[in-house]
Amino acid sequence: MRFLDAPARAALRTLKSEPFSIREALKDPARLPRFTLKHEDMIADFSKSLVPSTALAVLLDLAEQCELSKGIDAMFSGQAINLTEGRAVLHTALRNRSERAILVDGKDVMPDVREVLREMRSFVGKVHDGTFASATGKPFTDIVNIGIGGSDLGPAMVAEALEPYWHPRIRPHFVSNVDGAHLGRTLKRLNPETTLFVIASKTFTTLETLANAKSARSWITGPLGDAAVANHFVAVSTNLKEVASFGIDPANAFGFWDWVGGRYSLWSAIGLPVALAVGMDHFESLLEGGYVMDEHFRTTPLTENLPVISALLGLYYSDVLEADTFAVLPYDQSLARLPAWLQQGDMESNGKSVTRDGVRITEYQTGPIVWGEPGTNGQHAFYQLIHQGTRLVPVEFCAPLHSHYDLGEVPHHQMLLANLIAQSEALMVGKSLEEVKTELRAAGKSDEQIEKLAPHKVFSGNRPSHVVLFDRLTPRTLGKLLAYYEHRIFVQGWLWGVNSFDQWGVELGKKLATAVLGELERGDAGAHDASTRTQIDRVIAAR
Ligand code: F6P
Repeated sequence: MRFLDAPARAALRTLKSEPFSIREALKDPARLPRFTLKHEDMIADFSKSLVPSTALAVLLDLAEQCELSKGIDAMFSGQAINLTEGRAVLHTALRNRSERAILVDGKDVMPDVREVLREMRSFVGKVHDGTFASATGKPFTDIVNIGIGGSDLGPAMVAEALEPYWHPRIRPHFVSNVDGAHLGRTLKRLNPETTLFVIASKTFTTLETLANAKSARSWITGPLGDAAVANHFVAVSTNLKEVASFGIDPANAFGFWDWVGGRYSLWSAIGLPVALAVGMDHFESLLEGGYVMDEHFRTTPLTENLPVISALLGLYYSDVLEADTFAVLPYDQSLARLPAWLQQGDMESNGKSVTRDGVRITEYQTGPIVWGEPGTNGQHAFYQLIHQGTRLVPVEFCAPLHSHYDLGEVPHHQMLLANLIAQSEALMVGKSLEEVKTELRAAGKSDEQIEKLAPHKVFSGNRPSHVVLFDRLTPRTLGKLLAYYEHRIFVQGWLWGVNSFDQWGVELGKKLATAVLGELERGDAGAHDASTRTQIDRVIAAR
């Protein structure tokens, strides 16, 4: 049934006008257990969400009415749910650790998946033991991944998150932007003799990646000669033909398949820079973590299903409370890139305004604006708005209970977690006018000063936050966390009725950029509006 036609959706809308206090709701001893979900070491406390228990029941009805379980089956069984591209959506096959066959057009894809993993293992082993070495025979010390979007954000985020697991000799770097500053600044610190490039592009046609790859090639061939390309460049792509025409030896190319969406590709050979950094055993632990979350998502009843419940709460914020954004706030510096990865995952997937059958969506919002930064940094930047701004900003905190970094005397991690807990509490409890006045009176302020100051110091409270805790940021736990977010995106997209797996919205800008680049090169602005033409002329004049 379509989202708009579902009786549960209409029932949800009626809840909008009912007052709800998180603090009051938490006085009911049933709320905390009802809104706490566990999976292995992951514990999600959704009890401080702004969603009443009655609404949760209706949200679950909505999921039933929109046939969510059918959608989950369709994805896992390899049906072509990416309708506009006629493709299956099977990033879950990349981390399928079972013997279960996964069929695409009647063919089991698992043998190919396992074969690429074997190739990656062999290659990573050779780089680590120095058998695959530089043109001058030196072992590689630096891996530069050149890719953008899904060919950058996932592996960059994971590599940073797993820094404690890095091979002692190997440092990964990630270059994405076509701005020469990105590659230039990265290479300034490196030695061509010990640098290996991974050119990562699903299509191998992406302008930014090819431009950076060409400059990287010159940086290598300048001092080391043309033949050095064979030692210093490997590629990851679904387009092995283009890889070969770029000059990379097909023997040094790792493939994947069109049923892996770019933003879901970190589990494929796109994860090669991660595997080179942390070793193949840890990379496979990451896959294992993804797999156990897949199994949880695929087999757990909706009422206890972590990604499902999280997605439904998010849908309530968007559809009933009309929140525009979703802030993901890791209290873990190692997860600094998590919000950026999730931003692409969520916004490129669910930033759509037509349904799967091509009908324009006018009566509800789809994907939220996803953003975030690690705590406690964000507290000193944008939390002001979350606490006292006019907008509703649902937030999700996540953190490990244990850190990899013990710096001795100062209890950094306890300080970090204390802040997370305090923020979640503060968002809920707020501070009333009366409390503020009492405080100001106790601080010796005059009545006049109190009148002036008090309104500024009030916190409305009753602002929602989720807290997701896990034991320690291991490869396996990270895998679970990432798969949890991926499935959350799937559930929301399915209910809103959009195709979460295409990205036509990025095409127009790419096409126009190519045309403008031609005009800049020719020194001649074509037919444009007055503003665009003036900008082109300005760049031409500045050359
Ligand atoms: O422009 C968007 C996009 O197509 C993303 O979906 C993708 O992750 C990124 O570009 C990079 O694409 P590719 O891996 O083909 O270079």
